[in-house]
Amino acid sequence: MTIPEEYKGREQTYLKHRVLSEYLDSWAHKWASIIRGRKSVRLWYVDCFAGPWQANDEALEDTSVAIGLNALKQAAETWSRQGFHIDLSAIFVEKDKKAFGRLESFLKKRAGPIDAKPLPGEFGDYVDNINRAIRNDPAFLFVDPTGWKGAGMRNIAPLAGVRGRDVLINVMFNHINRFKDDPRSFLREQMRDFFGLTESDVPPALTEEQLFSLYRKQLRQKGGVRFAADLIIPHPTHDRTWFRLVIGGHNKAVVDLFRHVEKRICGDEAGEVREQARSRGQLNLILGLSQSDPTYARLHDDGLRQASEDVLKTLTESSPQSFGELWPQILCERHITKAELGKEVWKLHTQGRLVIQNLVGKQRTPKDENLLVLPDQQ
Ligand SMILES: C[S@@+](CC[C@H](N)C(=O)[O-])C[C@H]1O[C@@H](n2cnc3c(N)ncnc32)[C@H](O)[C@@H]1O
Repeated sequence: MTIPEEYKGREQTYLKHRVLSEYLDSWAHKWASIIRGRKSVRLWYVDCFAGPWQANDEALEDTSVAIGLNALKQAAETWSRQGFHIDLSAIFVEKDKKAFGRLESFLKKRAGPIDAKPLPGEFGDYVDNINRAIRNDPAFLFVDPTGWKGAGMRNIAPLAGVRGRDVLINVMFNHINRFKDDPRSFLREQMRDFFGLTESDVPPALTEEQLFSLYRKQLRQKGGVRFAADLIIPHPTHDRTWFRLVIGGHNKAVVDLFRHVEKRICGDEAGEVREQARSRGQLNLILGLSQSDPTYARLHDDGLRQASEDVLKTLTESSPQSFGELWPQILCERHITKAELGKEVWKLHTQGRLVIQNLVGKQRTPKDENLLVLPDQQ
């Protein structure tokens, strides 16, 4: 795999777009399949900070605008081949006048079957309009600010809190980390706004993990989503976080899909992408060997190591629990897939540390309906 030319020097954007594209493709196909029996079906893509921003490709293929349109069109094409029609809509909000001009002319040429609406100005000013437009249709919201301004929880909550909507937020850790403990009052205020804290400041000196644990908690409690999880997009050449993408949604399938996408992009693809970024300008021979990215490998290994304890602790607090209740809670915190957690649960079962009830036939992995119980609570 070679990074497309237009992304050279901004590999973090390439990885962000790969996550967006993979998630959105599956999201659109999944919804189309769930609702294809209905008389009329409309899917929405809402790009709240649309750009185009630092686009190098004339056709804007290296932007979230094109990625959003493509995902909707592909899902509709797949289902139209099977005889089902899906209506498509998209909203793009952009504050910068020049970028908005480019966005508008791009949509005129490229929106095709999608009813695409460009909105000039601040995302926050359009929250009610967007809500009224989407109504009860399934919608995917992408919140990708330049820093943190305008992306406060009070703007996200009215949109993300409605069932049938997933939200993907790019939290710019690289920037936020520099200012999160800054004592200047306007910055304290901005941080409170971003995190949706009404009664207190962001606590001082939080580690990266603590900061994101707080963000996920706020997204659930103030943003009104049931599940929230994040993944790391690392700096292209240094071993530190550039930003984190946080998903929020109402169905546990959101977390399952997100962890699959994370494994594919942050685990498998990021290793090669960052290797290419590091060897840029050098005469290194890129062998194209598939290697897991060290950032993801660390999180993934930690997740696997902690999984058994997490399961046992969760059951100590409330037992019995079905596997279907348990796995989304753990996957929101740990960077592992549902299948990997299933293997750990099965191991605990064979070791006699928990009991999987209502197993059927030759079953060798837990299913959502299986009840898990601690041996002394049977
Ligand atoms: C990081 S860029 C978006 C990149 C784009 N999502 C992509 O992946 O290709 C953020 C964009 O949001 C715009 N912007 C900044 N503040 C905004 C606000 N309050 N409302 C809407 N757009 C805003 C900026 O002009 C910029 O084009």
